[in-house]
Amino acid sequence: QIVHLEDYRPTDFVLERVDLTFELDPRETKVEARLIFHRREGVSPSAPLVLDGDELTMTGLLLDQVDIPAALYEATDEALIIRGLPETAPFEITITTVLSPETNTKLMGLYRTSNVYCTQCEAEGFRRITYFPDRPDVLAVYTVNIIADKAAAPLLLSNGNYLGGADMGDGRHFASWFDPHPKPSYLFALVAGDLGVVEDRFTTASGREVALKIYVEHGKEPRAAYAMDALKRAMKWDEEVFGREYDLDIFMIVAVSDFNMGAMENKGLNVFNDKYVLADPETATDTDYANIEAIIAHEYFHNWTGNRITCRDWFQLCLKEGLTVYRDHEFSADMRSRTVKRIAEVRHLKSEQFPEDAGPLAHPVRPTKYREINNFYTTTVYEKGSEVTRMIATILGRDLFKKGMDLYFERHDGQAVTIEDFVACFEAASGRDLAQFSLWYHQAGTPLVTASGSYDAGKQTYTLSLEQSVPPTPEQSAKAPMHIPLRLGLLLEDGTEATPTAVSGADITGDVLHLTERKQTVVFSGIPSRPVPSFNRGFSAPINLHFEQGARDRALIARHETDLFARWQALNTMALDNLVKAAAEARRGQPLTCDDALIDGLLAAAAEDRLEPAFRSQVLSLPSEADIAREIGSNNDPDAIQAGRQAVLAAIAAAGSNTFAQLVDRMSLSGPFRPDAESAGRRALRNAALSYVVYADDRPEKATNAFRAANNMTDLSHALTLLAHRFPDADETVDALASFKKRFADNALVIDKWFAIQATIPGAATLDRVRALMSDPLFNANNPNRVRSLVGTFAFANATGFNRADGEGYRFLAHQILDIDARNPQLAARILTSMRSWRSLEKVRSGHARSALEGIAGAANLSADVSDIVERMLKDE
Ligand code: ARG
Ligand code: ZN
Repeated sequence: QIVHLEDYRPTDFVLERVDLTFELDPRETKVEARLIFHRREGVSPSAPLVLDGDELTMTGLLLDQVDIPAALYEATDEALIIRGLPETAPFEITITTVLSPETNTKLMGLYRTSNVYCTQCEAEGFRRITYFPDRPDVLAVYTVNIIADKAAAPLLLSNGNYLGGADMGDGRHFASWFDPHPKPSYLFALVAGDLGVVEDRFTTASGREVALKIYVEHGKEPRAAYAMDALKRAMKWDEEVFGREYDLDIFMIVAVSDFNMGAMENKGLNVFNDKYVLADPETATDTDYANIEAIIAHEYFHNWTGNRITCRDWFQLCLKEGLTVYRDHEFSADMRSRTVKRIAEVRHLKSEQFPEDAGPLAHPVRPTKYREINNFYTTTVYEKGSEVTRMIATILGRDLFKKGMDLYFERHDGQAVTIEDFVACFEAASGRDLAQFSLWYHQAGTPLVTASGSYDAGKQTYTLSLEQSVPPTPEQSAKAPMHIPLRLGLLLEDGTEATPTAVSGADITGDVLHLTERKQTVVFSGIPSRPVPSFNRGFSAPINLHFEQGARDRALIARHETDLFARWQALNTMALDNLVKAAAEARRGQPLTCDDALIDGLLAAAAEDRLEPAFRSQVLSLPSEADIAREIGSNNDPDAIQAGRQAVLAAIAAAGSNTFAQLVDRMSLSGPFRPDAESAGRRALRNAALSYVVYADDRPEKATNAFRAANNMTDLSHALTLLAHRFPDADETVDALASFKKRFADNALVIDKWFAIQATIPGAATLDRVRALMSDPLFNANNPNRVRSLVGTFAFANATGFNRADGEGYRFLAHQILDIDARNPQLAARILTSMRSWRSLEKVRSGHARSALEGIAGAANLSADVSDIVERMLKDE
């Protein structure tokens, strides 16, 4: 059951049209699918039609409206095979299936959530609705008829444009939808139920009037206003920046509370996890607002990058996801602060994708085989895929990148294509050979670039020796050198940038150095004094870079770089070096130290009013325990890492007490809440400073006051986090947790935060707390958001709690995984990836982790999702 890229071939039959009729019922939904096919030219006349299926009950099967004799077809668990079909003429197959949406706990196919019928078909959910050629290269035009009880489901939605509907006189009604754009089955959607709506309009650049509708639970309409605003901005931006217009008369978004992922770009009918739609100041944090803006845009942008141009097969997933993430990143950068957005992206990439790329689940951005495609909706495909797109833009420059994108839209509109097709557009547009660059799609692992420099005062030359390597990853032991676009500046002592008179040993365009050999020596001439190199400006390449650089040089970069991202990077690297050192000291039982240069650098940036507050808050937020563990790389002891980190925090808090107290005051906002980036930045800086203030104090008073004074969810949840993490057992914390729970008991998204805050309380005792929380009446094992907020957050984001030395955390997780797997394999597999770095733990912990994983692997009735992950995790290196 392993699928290989090299086995790709087109289907034997061409699907011309799809007509679907749904008679909705919670336990007995009847689906009639009428599919018109013809045999592809050159295909053997005896070749059968093979359709995919998954857990289907078929009650009827017709060929051109006549029953197909049992001898001519075979229905198995996974397929429907029909023989004796016409040699050349088109024919119609009618399939009737009966589904039970209410008991569909996998949340794939047609399911029910809060009395609403909804679908999730990507990647292979459509085959849970009817037998079908369920693969992305089969594009067809769909008509959809929906029949349902009018009282229970006044709203009947599907893709495309509304054709009409009517009362049926028997308490039921129907609606018909027609989608003129040929699409693969994974973009099919149906929603039916009783929902409230927020409506607006958008006029496209060429004058098309588009009705915009966001459907939410009744009463939640006001909380969809920000999402609507973000949608309109995204539509406008895509016209201005990528020249892409919307192509139907209506665009709909439906928010549901049970959803496995973030959202889904079904043609004209996006379905969202309501976490990424609903927001108001009382219940959403600034991060929630930013995520909503990004995900609304992401799904909207898929209309062109994903829907109009789709993937030939699922190996090409990054074709739509990497590109669309890149587009949503650029959108957010234009809506907010570009630098701050880039810092957040890089933090996310390093904390999520780098560990994936360094562990047993590493895979190329464009994989060549999979067992369960759901397990490849990864941060490598999405975020590294986005970085690869960004590098193409960096290498080509803005204009040629734009030219390449335009060519892509022109050449491939309406097609299902490959990464090779995508890259070829940029080659054609620029005349550049991107063959070596394409290794970024094929070679897994984070490249390491090691650099050393020497200055010759007599010759006024600076010589950089650069060496690249890509670490071995599962099934890829030897790697070829990559084309790495490394943006670089040489700073002089006075902070200005050197302008070399000549460069030899590498191609350089602007400040982009093209590293293409395993080893390269680059000589810069006309350098008047010893320069300080600032590498990987803007994080131009997703690599690890090793260069011995003293704190003084890093401080120079932090003060003078014209690239603000590089300033943050210098301070962050300085902090990371310190934290690694402190972890080692803690482990050896030595006194813990923090360099003055770090403290000075952080405090100077924090107090620098010419820098925007959001940037300064990023400087103050130290690398996480997971970041430190990743930097150390092996034989990790999470307790020592935490002890070291706390010592560094304490030193900074003590040295900066005045600065921080002032910032808490000066960054306070008055007036009504505004979710814009600037206000959010002030809150972020204020809260970062408040963390240090609270850290420096032994009493919970300041956090309690902040909790009482908060008038928005950003400040309130931050204060509650400070209380819970710093004073977990104080009466003040117990009271605050109780009052928060009471106040928001009927708001699921806020209660998710309540669980997550407690799941991340550092230390071994938290496991018992998590266990107790699982019996809280508000815990709901069937709701993915709730399970992620407690179990997922504990495993992913509580280094000391989860990685208890006695292995109890792993045993707890193993138990949970098996429990979740029985209902929702996709969710179970995703949470299990929290153990992806288990091999980098010290041997007592890694031994416990291995036993827990072996326990999962040996369990009966494992889903393909979980067994795929656990087997890859245990596979010998
Ligand atoms: N295409 C969606 C997005 O990135 C993700 C859907 C993934 N769903 C899944 N079941 N694997 O916007
Ligand atoms: Zn996507």
